[in-house]
Amino acid sequence: MTTKTVAELLSQDVTLQDVTVKGWVRTFRANRFIALNDGSTINNIQCVVDFENFDETLLKRITTGAALHVTGELVESQGKGQSVEIVVKTLEILGDSDAETYPIQPKKHSFEFLRENAHLRTRTNTFSAVMRLRSSLSFAVHKYFNENGFYYMHTPIVTGSDAEGAGEMFRVTGLDPKNPPLNEDGTINYKKDFFGKETNLTVSGQLEAETYAMSLGKVYTFGPTFRAENSNTTRHLAEFWMIEPEVAFMDLAGNMDLAEDFMKSVLGYILEHNKDDLDFLNKRLEDEEKRLPQAQRSDMGLIEKIKFVVDNNFKRVSYTEAIDILRNSKPNKKKKFNYLIEQWGADLQSEHERFLVEKHFKCPVILFDYPANIKAFYMRLNEPDDQGRETVRAMDILFPGIGEMVGGSQREERLDVLKEKMAALDISEEELWWYLDLRKYGTAVHSGFGLGFERLVMFATGMGNIRDVIPYPRTPQNAEF
Ligand code: 4AD
Ligand code: MG
Repeated sequence: MTTKTVAELLSQDVTLQDVTVKGWVRTFRANRFIALNDGSTINNIQCVVDFENFDETLLKRITTGAALHVTGELVESQGKGQSVEIVVKTLEILGDSDAETYPIQPKKHSFEFLRENAHLRTRTNTFSAVMRLRSSLSFAVHKYFNENGFYYMHTPIVTGSDAEGAGEMFRVTGLDPKNPPLNEDGTINYKKDFFGKETNLTVSGQLEAETYAMSLGKVYTFGPTFRAENSNTTRHLAEFWMIEPEVAFMDLAGNMDLAEDFMKSVLGYILEHNKDDLDFLNKRLEDEEKRLPQAQRSDMGLIEKIKFVVDNNFKRVSYTEAIDILRNSKPNKKKKFNYLIEQWGADLQSEHERFLVEKHFKCPVILFDYPANIKAFYMRLNEPDDQGRETVRAMDILFPGIGEMVGGSQREERLDVLKEKMAALDISEEELWWYLDLRKYGTAVHSGFGLGFERLVMFATGMGNIRDVIPYPRTPQNAEF
């Protein structure tokens, strides 16, 4: 008799056979009904114990969190809520769980409490569902790119370059902080450091991905990236996973098409393959919102929101159009925004992005052609507009409830223009010599984008805090586990 998962057992219609299963006790009711879960599904299998035939000391050890090995007969369930159950014949306690100290009791725990117990939180329905969805979405990402002719490339984690030019990097060094080697002028001598230069954790794999796009054609990365920005928000992590496709001979319009098609595909995948988990999270969100005043509740449920994204076109709007909308908006005129939009060139804050997607367009929005001076150095410069204003071929995709999900651009392929831009921003040509080589040898139009994976998981699960969609969140003042 091979051990089956709970998911396998629950999907079987062949009853009256002996089965064996292992899992953790969720609840033990009336000295008779064990709800057993093994992580294979949100659903538990009910194991019915005829307590008169079992030793009392054994029954006492069936506590929430204990690991069990159960064998018995799979029968059609007498009770409501499940189709089959196991009539227990033998029961072995694999690992006890002290009811006095086990933190995950069968009751509602706050997400804050569960974050402190992140090593056990996937024993709850919510977190097991979220993490199964995270896994499923990861698979869908690779599936999409694989089926569309992309190569998966691994970009370095330790790097000497600042891809975003934002300077928000974690330093990587092997030097003794108490006694670093010094130059004559008293500064630290990084030539003596492990790599012989200053290095940091990558903020993005883009620049290296560009090198592979300019030889392999279509590539993507999917890996951890690090940002030392001190933003303590529900949407920022210091360590997050980013998906970055990069494609040769593709312009900004192609980039938008790719991003939209990609997101629809991966969200479509979970609608098809993760129904139980989505149903659970849909209900969870509904219950949570019941406690909110009517005005704060969302118009759509979780599954409805995902379907809406899959079935409808994203709205494409230029930065210039967006500024007009924002300038004339109610919150701007009534001075409700913290940052009032007065003129073209203003950087958009999340309050503006949220207004555009949640109040004005009520759907995902692709904003493009941003002012050159609020975007990164590598973005393709447009011809100045009729008022002489300079924009770059950048795009951000904004999602309801999330804000910025994607940031991307067509890349500057002209060597002279790129060099000028780098000089203006004081970015070292020496450091990025290899990046400039791409523009010297066989340069061509190319584009790509970065999607913050955790923000996608937030959208797909309806979770409100980014700390609750990654197993062990890294945020300012927190690197537990
Ligand atoms: O907009 P960003 O900074 O763009 C880049 O890094 C480009 N190099 C990408 C590219 O073109 N290949 O970051 C891309 C996305 C954001 O839209 C956001 O979803 C996510 O990464 N992101 C974060 N997610 C969680 N925590 C943070 N601190 C994040 N910073 C960015
Ligand atoms: Mg961005």
